[in-house]
Amino acid sequence: MIDLEPLKKEAALRAAGLVESGMRVGLGTGSTAKYAIEEIGRRLATGELRGVVGVSTSEASTVLAREVGIPVEPLDPRLLDLAIDGADEIAPNLDLIKGLGGALLREKLTEVQARRLIIIADHSKVVSRLGEKAPLPVEIAPFGFLSTIERLRRIVPGGRLRQPGTQPYVTDNGNYIYDAQLPAQGDIAALERELKGTLGVVETGLFLGMAERAFVASPEGVRELTR
Ligand code: A5P
Repeated sequence: MIDLEPLKKEAALRAAGLVESGMRVGLGTGSTAKYAIEEIGRRLATGELRGVVGVSTSEASTVLAREVGIPVEPLDPRLLDLAIDGADEIAPNLDLIKGLGGALLREKLTEVQARRLIIIADHSKVVSRLGEKAPLPVEIAPFGFLSTIERLRRIVPGGRLRQPGTQPYVTDNGNYIYDAQLPAQGDIAALERELKGTLGVVETGLFLGMAERAFVASPEGVRELTR
């Protein structure tokens, strides 16, 4: 079993290297994005970077960013220069599944406003089609969630409410997550529209046509994927 941590860090360092002084940067969430946040903080601390502002995609990343000295501002209508985030699956055209860490809504709200979305990952995240390995996280309103799940099951059978213990997992936005099984075939954009049109659904973890490039690290080195 190979240790993925050094690979995640390598990919993260490549993306953090794209950050320039004065940029407003979307800060992703998860174990790979963490390395990018730490590296941006390190570059600020050494004076290599100045005046960088972060817009964070989760409470956890906000805490980390502040710890490493990145000023964090709320998302406003201005575009971000860059956003850096991990992913759960990366398709050949850079469509993504995100949200296994539960931050998909804030990630999508933030990253849709980024001039450039850079994805960082180890090679285990690259798939030939979305849904190959990971479930699709769908954020749903807690009110009437059992009815929402029933509606979702008519579109994507299988899947389950995310429930680590006896209680449902609660997102930073106070919502629940339904982890759906994507079908092996079909029009993913049409599926996204259908899921988004389902009463009770807040957002899905499908990030289609958003990523500009991905740095994917494997024991052979870091590959740069573009659309
Ligand atoms: C957070 O909700 C997710 O979208 C993460 O970006 C994704 O799960 C990747 O996380 P890791 O880098 O921890 O695998």
